[in-house]
Amino acid sequence: MPKNKRQKYERVRHLPNVTLIEGDEPTTWQSYPWNHMGAANTATVLELGCGKGEYTLALAADYPQNLYVGVDYKSHRMCVGAEKALARNLTNVHFVRIRIERIRNVFRPGSIDAIWLPFPDPHLKNRNAKLRLTAAPFLDAYAELLVPGGRVHVKTDSAHLYEYTRETVVRWGGRVVASTADGWGPRWEGDAANGPISAYEKAASIRGSTIKMLTFTLTARRAKPMPCAAGGW
Ligand SMILES: C[S@@+](CC[C@H](N)C(=O)[O-])C[C@H]1O[C@@H](n2cnc3c(N)ncnc32)[C@H](O)[C@@H]1O
Repeated sequence: MPKNKRQKYERVRHLPNVTLIEGDEPTTWQSYPWNHMGAANTATVLELGCGKGEYTLALAADYPQNLYVGVDYKSHRMCVGAEKALARNLTNVHFVRIRIERIRNVFRPGSIDAIWLPFPDPHLKNRNAKLRLTAAPFLDAYAELLVPGGRVHVKTDSAHLYEYTRETVVRWGGRVVASTADGWGPRWEGDAANGPISAYEKAASIRGSTIKMLTFTLTARRAKPMPCAAGGW
């Protein structure tokens, strides 16, 4: 393993804004402080598959009233974001190392206002479809964690993942609120269309790829979606 990576694995273990949850360590959401902060934050927003957390940091800087939690299973990556958050004195940022398959164990049901999925791995092979972060079992988990009408935002340059996500959301019974295919633009989703740029999005833009966006809710179809967010989610 490269020395730099090894050093990050070591450093991340001591950062106050990182929680590392080991492999199959039994855990319940009641154990974690962010579930007991009550009205301390206006909203709690997750970035799932946060990598180095560029998205989390940018949103946290723009909306200090909200709590932003970056989740990934690669702790050396979140080490970068967590150290930057400390250096920038961003006290409304936390990182959690856990597989997203287990997030129901660390967040209180109905406590998350929005979920960001910037550039999730597309896992193009059919046999790996279950690993896509928009596969139905993940949608089940997001639906449980989100407040009624809470939104999930996806950004990707993969046409395949984009179409797969649209179809999966509709089949699941969710509602696509805005999407590139429907002419998604600042008029609908100012924050999402003009918001931060993650590391993978930057690389995709440099390659000349087209970025596709999708916002959906996972409450019953008849439920009214929340109004277009102006507060960072
Ligand atoms: C393609 S990268 C995108 C990183 C970042 N969102 C960006 O846009 O730059 C996908 C990230 O998702 C993480 N990831 C993928 N599947 C995951 C899972 N099941 N649980 C936790 N993290 C996962 C990977 O470790 C990786 O950091």
